[in-house]
Amino acid sequence: MTEPAKVNMEKIVSLCQRRGFIFPSSEIYGGLSSCWDYGPLGVELKRNIKEAWWRTVIQERDDMVGLDASILMHPKVWEASGHLEQFTDPLVECKSCHLRWRTDELKDNHCPSCGGELTEPRLFNLMFKTFMGPVEEEANVVYLRPETAQGMFVNFQNVLNTTRKRLPFGIAQIGKAFRNEITTGNFIFRSREFEQMEIEFFVKPGTDEEWFNYWLEERYNWYIKLGIKKENLKLREHTKGELAHYALKCYDIDYLFPMGWAELEGVANRGDFDLRQHASHSGKSLSYLDEETKQHIVPYVIEPSAGVDRSTLAVLCDAYAEEADKEEIRVLLHLHPTLAPIKVAVLPLSKKEALVTLAKEIHADLRSCWMVQYDDTQSIGRRYRRQDETGTPFCVTVDFQSLEDKQATIRERDSMNQIRVPISELKNTLQAKLEGEDLFILPPGGQVWKEEKRSV
Ligand code: GAP
Repeated sequence: MTEPAKVNMEKIVSLCQRRGFIFPSSEIYGGLSSCWDYGPLGVELKRNIKEAWWRTVIQERDDMVGLDASILMHPKVWEASGHLEQFTDPLVECKSCHLRWRTDELKDNHCPSCGGELTEPRLFNLMFKTFMGPVEEEANVVYLRPETAQGMFVNFQNVLNTTRKRLPFGIAQIGKAFRNEITTGNFIFRSREFEQMEIEFFVKPGTDEEWFNYWLEERYNWYIKLGIKKENLKLREHTKGELAHYALKCYDIDYLFPMGWAELEGVANRGDFDLRQHASHSGKSLSYLDEETKQHIVPYVIEPSAGVDRSTLAVLCDAYAEEADKEEIRVLLHLHPTLAPIKVAVLPLSKKEALVTLAKEIHADLRSCWMVQYDDTQSIGRRYRRQDETGTPFCVTVDFQSLEDKQATIRERDSMNQIRVPISELKNTLQAKLEGEDLFILPPGGQVWKEEKRSV
């Protein structure tokens, strides 16, 4: 992690807590280290990221299907996958305070916390262990999955049999993963409970390099399409020493987080490691009959593996901006409309009954299409600022004139431009704007609504 970016993490954390994106887990009890709760806006943002991913990698493709596998899996899964043996960090323990440290975190041979003497390094498995059933004994040990990937490998044959997909095809899933991380911190960047969005794409051996390049480009472009700035993304190839035990090749898509460049997503060529391992440990065939050659082959796997929480953090950092605005600073999130937690806020200019009634009618009508907020507290300027800070792309303002001319004002977050639109055209106009249309020309081929710049 090098080259700190301009947005600092304190500002992101503070905004997230102040506006209800993300809270420390169990905060009233002092929090639980490296666990986070997504609040009313955070849950919407995260849901929108997951939906955008699902739409791109499953809904809009012929060669992908979805899955939702159980978090608890047969313990043999982790034997076969190599996680029991290999998913470890070498740690030293302080003989006085018993804190454990990774050797690469040490300046010298003393405990960074109390200065005590340290033990020799020992391997420490990162999987969370628990017991299934009422008896806490070794025979009942199960693990919380450290990656969602294995659910897709063990279901390879089920999916093949039930969907009749032919190679190349992929399985994708979104779900929780758990790692007893030793080095945590940097907010939701590295936590002990997190969500992954993973694809296992099965291909014929020999075509793996081509598919690897394809997926690397697809995944990189997905972030760009969602508005992440190109200059904040880069690709980095893993050195031989860095490669995970299953990987033939891996690239990280790195993002320039406030603490420096760090992994957002990994794209790996896992070869036939996983299917072969599970076939040999389960005794079940996980091969594929190639109809052209009539040969049974074990497919290779290309795995783009993204973190939901890291994507959320990258999206927030990338969108965060502060602008000089008269005497004040306007804080805003330039969120892509697809990702914005609230798409539209409906704001009556005052609390006069007639305005409130009309604004509530508009709110009721629009909320059938999107997440829409109604707000009639405080001055209109303050309400605009609140929506800017949470990334709401459009505000609809209802004023006294609206009662007469049946028009309302749409105010855009980024430009602060305002236009007046017939209330009957609000839905269409907002729909077009949310889909990225620049001009206020609606209905298609129809009238051009007048655009005027206002100061609030
Ligand atoms: N199946 C392959 C795999 O799990 P990984 O690089 O260990 O690969 C993939 O994890 C992605 O999961 C990472 O790029 C990151 O976005 C996310 N991730 C991994 N560990 C995480 C953690 N402790 N907290 C948050 N996200 C994490």
